[in-house]
Amino acid sequence: MSLEGKTVVLGVTGSIAAYKAPPLARKLQSKGAEVIVVMTEAGTKLVDPLTFRSLTGRAVPVDMFEPSTDWQIEHISLSEKADLFLIAPATANTIGKMANGIADNLLTCAVMATKAPVLIAPAMNVNMYENPIVQENIKRLEELGYTFVGPKVGRLATGIEGKGPLADVDDILAKAEELLKGR
Ligand SMILES: Cc1cc2nc3c(=O)[nH]c(=O)nc-3n(C[C@H](O)[C@H](O)[C@H](O)COP(=O)(O)O)c2cc1C
Repeated sequence: MSLEGKTVVLGVTGSIAAYKAPPLARKLQSKGAEVIVVMTEAGTKLVDPLTFRSLTGRAVPVDMFEPSTDWQIEHISLSEKADLFLIAPATANTIGKMANGIADNLLTCAVMATKAPVLIAPAMNVNMYENPIVQENIKRLEELGYTFVGPKVGRLATGIEGKGPLADVDDILAKAEELLKGR
């Protein structure tokens, strides 16, 4: 199993493609990875954290100020535990935050604190994806050493064709394996 002994922190944000994150978590587990899911508030509107809790057997942290969340432990330990930080799907908003040093939720805070490789799988409407601000943010993150997979060209939730849908689970997995090889 190619990901045996590896911990993947899977960040799930508020994209319509969030429904593809549970199968992705499953696939990572089937390759031997320990998967810890962290969600943004918007992400929880699209997929119930209980889904990930059931799949991973772990609490799904969202809010670092929630009294039951020991945020000191959460955001630092998430960052330290990760062999790979995978954000799939990644919204334009979260990409923008990461590119500009904003860490105002548990996910962006943990990403900022990690030394692990960060793999980002964007998913958004084609017009959002082509927006020069989004393109600038992606370019900036790539220059800083973040890795991107997708989006692919396909049919968007709105029915139009374009570049924006989340990369296929197998392509995300292949990129994750590539980044973890030899680590
Ligand atoms: C039904 C629905 C689907 C959405 N899908 C996307 C999407 O695919 N990509 C995206 O960048 N934003 C999408 N958004 C907008 C984000 O949810 C919004 O920008 C949010 O603030 C993102 O927060 P987050 O980055 O903290 O998860 C969607 C919003 C709604 C209501």
